[in-house]
Amino acid sequence: MQKQWDNPITRTMPAHTRVPAEVTIGNVRIAPATVLAPMAGVTDTVFRRFIKNASLFTEGSGLTDGLPDVDQETSNQRSGCGLIMTEFTSADGLSRMRAVKRKRYLTYYDDEHPISAQIFGSNPETLADSARICQDAGFDMVDLNLGCPAKRVISCNGGSGLLRDLPQIEVIFKRVRAAVAIPFTVKFRMGWNDKNIVCVPLAKLAEDCGLNAVALHARTREDGYSGNARWQYIAAIKDAVKIPVIGNGDILTPEDAVAMVAETRCDAVMIGRAAPANPWIFRQIAQYTANGDYDRPTEMDRYRMIRTYFGMLVGETESEHPEIYGPAETDAEKKQKRNRESAHREAIGKMKQFASWFTHGVVGGATLRKQIFEAKNGDAVLDAVERFFVGKMEHSDEESVIEEMTLEALGQGCD
Ligand SMILES: Cc1cc2nc3c(=O)[nH]c(=O)nc-3n(C[C@H](O)[C@H](O)[C@H](O)COP(=O)(O)O)c2cc1C
Repeated sequence: MQKQWDNPITRTMPAHTRVPAEVTIGNVRIAPATVLAPMAGVTDTVFRRFIKNASLFTEGSGLTDGLPDVDQETSNQRSGCGLIMTEFTSADGLSRMRAVKRKRYLTYYDDEHPISAQIFGSNPETLADSARICQDAGFDMVDLNLGCPAKRVISCNGGSGLLRDLPQIEVIFKRVRAAVAIPFTVKFRMGWNDKNIVCVPLAKLAEDCGLNAVALHARTREDGYSGNARWQYIAAIKDAVKIPVIGNGDILTPEDAVAMVAETRCDAVMIGRAAPANPWIFRQIAQYTANGDYDRPTEMDRYRMIRTYFGMLVGETESEHPEIYGPAETDAEKKQKRNRESAHREAIGKMKQFASWFTHGVVGGATLRKQIFEAKNGDAVLDAVERFFVGKMEHSDEESVIEEMTLEALGQGCD
């Protein structure tokens, strides 16, 4: 059966609408009003900084500057991505963990501000505790996940499992609100299924309990990632509350982002799966807002981008364990060596995942994906990338040869 996401809607840019230049959540200014969605296994510190750098944009600079050097230092003012969020983290885990271990989950760098930490769970006390931990770690905001459809999260009544229990959500909202002074937000789906759509009362509850913004992924838990996101529910929430509403679901292009704002009047847009496939999307939205048009990446830009991301991944792995490049003799050294090897394996896994998303829509991308999945180590991944792009550039005029990007290609995840 042909699923609807095989056929993303092709939109033209509404002439008189723009993604808002800014939104204020509590005391935090988000400029522009764009958010990188939390994505487990994807939005770690390397990916977040990569996206912020790829989004660099100097207002009024016109469109002839070429794409930015992603190695540059970022500054919030000039990044087209206004807010980044961590992958979701278990509140039970965070509140139990020793401080050293927590660092692994809560690592971020100064150039990531403003940054929001997302937590999930169902126990009001541990959620309040872990919100406090995030506040103490210097996060600008804390977000509660009420959208994750994964069975292992729902089985503990977390994520979208809680959507069936508004009274419990109210207890959680109040406990967490009382525990932290930083802005507190919630990200949710429309409800468990079509018979149980609760997003409007849930948004009102959030407002009444003092939360500072709500974000809706406009699907139910039972929808998974099928069909098109139903943006009309974002509009319904916008009609119901005064706190900022962040719209999420199926934004693939700057045209989609603007169309969501036009259709829903949402205060900010949140982008997930499109970011690894098109890391320039936030910059393109900022360019469109300023100039009415935006750059399209060339093959050369894609090549530089993938190499930069892989370099950052390897760099982060090494910077975590600078002391352990000698031979491992003592037990402690052997343990460190094992940690390093595991970090490297994780980095290679991320390279493979990213390469898969990033090359969907690139002509001949399937060949590259196959080579990357067969690669045994980081160097082999980089070699495959190099051979592929250099070969393409030798045989083309470096113009962008991007096929239609589909949501199916970008896969599904947990939220
Ligand atoms: C791989 C993957 C992991 C995800 N992990 C999370 C998560 O940790 N927390 C969350 O709130 N949503 C998560 N999501 C959902 C996204 O944040 C977003 O709501 C969803 O992908 C719809 O937006 P999009 O159409 O722009 O991708 C995840 C999605 C994907 C694809």
